[in-house]
Amino acid sequence: MSREPPSGKRLRKSLSHVGGAARFSGDERLRALLERAATPGDEDERALTHGFHPWPGRLHPHTARELIAAAPPGLIADPFMGAGTVPLEAMLAGRAAIGNDLNPIGVEVAWVRTRRFSPAALSALVARAKAVTKKADRLVADGARVEPGFQDRVGRWFDRQALVEVWAHARCLAEGDPAWPGSPGDPLTRVLRMALSSILVKASRQVSDSVAKLDRHEPAPSPPGRIGHWLRKRVSELAGQLGALSERVEREVPEPILRLGDARVAPEGAPPIAAVVSSPPYPGVYDYVTHHALRCAVLGFETGAITAHEIGSRRASERLGKAVAHARYVEAMGAVLASWTRTLAPGGFVALVIGDGQIGTNVVRVMPLLERAAEASGLAVRAIVSQARPTFGPARGEGRGAHKEEHLVWLEPPRLVAK
Ligand SMILES: C[S@@+](CC[C@H](N)C(=O)[O-])C[C@H]1O[C@@H](n2cnc3c(N)ncnc32)[C@H](O)[C@@H]1O
Repeated sequence: MSREPPSGKRLRKSLSHVGGAARFSGDERLRALLERAATPGDEDERALTHGFHPWPGRLHPHTARELIAAAPPGLIADPFMGAGTVPLEAMLAGRAAIGNDLNPIGVEVAWVRTRRFSPAALSALVARAKAVTKKADRLVADGARVEPGFQDRVGRWFDRQALVEVWAHARCLAEGDPAWPGSPGDPLTRVLRMALSSILVKASRQVSDSVAKLDRHEPAPSPPGRIGHWLRKRVSELAGQLGALSERVEREVPEPILRLGDARVAPEGAPPIAAVVSSPPYPGVYDYVTHHALRCAVLGFETGAITAHEIGSRRASERLGKAVAHARYVEAMGAVLASWTRTLAPGGFVALVIGDGQIGTNVVRVMPLLERAAEASGLAVRAIVSQARPTFGPARGEGRGAHKEEHLVWLEPPRLVAK
């Protein structure tokens, strides 16, 4: 698709990162919508449950909201929902939605973020958080020893105090306890497990949510009781946010369908999809399985599927090299697009936030890959808004200097051309 000269318009904030001049190309009728979707205002991006749990590459809620508002009647779908921004925004817009991700933590977080609990259930949640942290702190005070398997899996990521407290909380939230229905399937336990998940990286020696390496700087030792304190605080904030969510969303709005699965295979028998609004993995940028390895190890989630089937992972791109990694990315994205647009409603569209990748020092331009994937799946790129993004360290560009770009891309089935 040919690109027009930059529109030169400055966007205050945009896409999943921030800032930069916007370049528009494509169907002029889509310009206003895409530029608006890529331009968050001053709204709080952590409002409601949006800020509950960190997720690298999170879609900005404003972008999801604007795109959902443009969809014809029908289901809103996100094959790569991560922590569930799109299903949550769909609910807020009164729409039925389906969200999918290969990462079990993402599916659990999305589940928590879209709950409509009664005030009584929210009070019970806060009380349960207090009871669990009290029980875990008692285990620690009584000198309970971290189980050897847990120590082996995650010991190096925490200082001694944090490790024993994390272990005690994870244990209290995993075991069936007659004092409460403490199995992982119990709704309050599910929420508390994700609240623990949300504070784990902050409590650990992992550099950050998107850099899963041990911090070389020795942090100050954790003070006793910190994990319980953070957990209670997170849960009480969440209870307020879930209360506000219940008040905002009409009772008739259906619960979003949340699915753990490979995005290449859309669910069978789903109603017609009005719009696919999503932010797929960028080629060679992140390793989602590595980001969440610590959480999965603490909470006992399987990582086999995401290790084997994660699309565009940095580790696979580095191992496979450019040609093979690109071909795999095109094939995977083609399968995703074909599968989720099989039942696209009349007037339906696909809107993706997607960005250039980087393999070593080489910048990978994502648009040629996406265009090939779209073509293979019977879709056409109609319009794009693009913004510059920084590279990691020194980089060589393909075609346009060393900078990377992030794009908001609108795709549709090709229109019938009248003879
Ligand atoms: C950019 S993130 C999505 C973030 C999401 N929009 C949000 O706001 O939280 C990309 C997601 O793709 C998921 N993913 C990677 N490969 C996948 C696959 N084969 N099937 C389903 N999800 C996959 C990752 O687990 C990650 O959550």
